[in-house]
Amino acid sequence: MIQKKTNSYPLVRMRRNRQTDWSRRLICENILSANDLILPLFVCDGNNLLEPIDSLPGVNRYSIDKIIDVAKKAEDLQIPLLALFPVIDNKFKSNEGEEALKSDNLICRTIHEIKNKVPNIGIMTDVALDPYTSHGHDGILKENKILNDETIEALIKQALNQCRAGTDIIAPSDMMDGRILMIRNALEENNFKDTIIMSYAAKYASNYYGPFRDAIKSKNSLTGSKSTYQMDSANSNEAIREAELDINEGADMIMVKPGMPYLDIIFRIKKELGVPTFAYQVSGEYAAIKAASINGWLDYNEIILESLLCFKRSGADGILTYAAIDVAEKLLGK
Ligand code: PBG
Repeated sequence: MIQKKTNSYPLVRMRRNRQTDWSRRLICENILSANDLILPLFVCDGNNLLEPIDSLPGVNRYSIDKIIDVAKKAEDLQIPLLALFPVIDNKFKSNEGEEALKSDNLICRTIHEIKNKVPNIGIMTDVALDPYTSHGHDGILKENKILNDETIEALIKQALNQCRAGTDIIAPSDMMDGRILMIRNALEENNFKDTIIMSYAAKYASNYYGPFRDAIKSKNSLTGSKSTYQMDSANSNEAIREAELDINEGADMIMVKPGMPYLDIIFRIKKELGVPTFAYQVSGEYAAIKAASINGWLDYNEIILESLLCFKRSGADGILTYAAIDVAEKLLGK
């Protein structure tokens, strides 16, 4: 008698499990829910303002009063967290970005207002100087160099300023060396022991950030590239070292950015370090999907769900995405 191998066709037919909707649902390995979504929002000065951003169709800059409506909507849709980014008027920008340190600046007022009116949604705020610097860099620029340790001193003050305004999560996105340790120590010393730090640990010098720089109006002012502090797209071992360092320095969560072209980095960080790992589907990724959809070349509603599910499959615990509201509505059948 000829013994058939048990581990191959025709005994094994992978399509058996795929033949019906119920069996596909039963074997499904990953799911996306509204709990996985973080909504980035751009806030600007003024009243009753909703300014569309040309390179991010469907995304707007909102004045504080208007952002409250969006925050309420996000809360209703079970989105756990907002990531706030201020659009700073040119007259408040300077070489060292001192506006970032003022207790009544736009971001602090926004945190206050959201905490007052929508208390059950989390707030995350960026720690980096780029919205506030006249040159558009994340740190202090002197003689063509971004100064690491001097920048950290400013970032500590910026982080404490945001904590006093009531932020829940500090998200250093500046990529200076040692800033997580220094910020964590400052939080401990100033009675903000429970403030979460989500570190942009593996942040690449990427061309995908273009529309974001339009959104915060820093594009035209940016002089030179950010490659002396953001990572080289060629590297992945370096990302593991960055993430490990930041966890050891007191970060609670790690972010990888951009997202989809860097799924291997998310996978490795999750696998090798096993820490809460988040991905940022950045402005250029969203814009590319949106632009192709507007042209009728891709189906936005379907492809955005697919892209976010792929983040989950790679190991991400959650995703920052400009599509968070659209996706949550879709997931909840609204
Ligand atoms: C800056 C910052 C950037 C983004 C988030 N925080 C841009 C940059 O590093 O120049 C980009 C996000 C996006 O493209 O959606 N600290």
